Amino acid sequence: MVDPFFNERSDQSEVKAAIIHDYFFAWANVIKATAKRFHNNKIAYIDLFAGPGRYKDGAKSTPLLVLERVANDPDLSKMLVSIFNDEEPTHADSLRNEVQNIKGVEKLRFKPVIENGDAGGYIGKWMQETKLVPTFSFIDPFGYRGLSLGLIQGAIKDWGCDCVFFLQLQSHKCRSSQSGSWPSYGCLVRS
Ligand SMILES: C[S@@+](CC[C@H](N)C(=O)[O-])C[C@H]1O[C@@H](n2cnc3c(N)ncnc32)[C@H](O)[C@@H]1O
Repeated sequence: MVDPFFNERSDQSEVKAAIIHDYFFAWANVIKATAKRFHNNKIAYIDLFAGPGRYKDGAKSTPLLVLERVANDPDLSKMLVSIFNDEEPTHADSLRNEVQNIKGVEKLRFKPVIENGDAGGYIGKWMQETKLVPTFSFIDPFGYRGLSLGLIQGAIKDWGCDCVFFLQLQSHKCRSSQSGSWPSYGCLVRS
């Protein structure tokens, strides 16, 4: 079953999606000239906590917003390698379905890869051990489970790699000081 978090897109999630979308395209436009010359015309977008792709109210989340725009960008559609993951099988299945229905998805040179594993397991390990092309990584767990220093180090260890991660601090002290809501923090790190 899809998590209640995805019933309706909150204002907080809308702002988060806008930050990631805008940051990704600003980053890609800066990095693409070097990627063409020195990285075999490749850049990557990796989202290890990708969610189902769409909220139940119909709102699109970050993977769809990014891929839709890339599919219609003559340059980036030939460059982008995209890797998504979610440990919840229904989320990964939903995202696969949503991605294949994106208008223009067939224009992408590299078919989006959608995995279904624990980001703290083999996928995180792969990221730490693999030399990455210039990559933008988005790390957006529930709370902070699955987020580790090793994962962040893996995401930014190679040239041109940027990573944005969000975490929620769910301590009683934090909660009571924020009128009952969990405070959420975002952070940008780069190679
Ligand atoms: C906050 S939601 C992500 C929302 C998504 N970024 C969006 O914009 O719609 C966190 C997602 O991470 C998944 N998740 C939680 N822990 C995970 C882990 N250890 N490995 C992989 N996925 C995980 C959950 O199933 C959930 O879909």
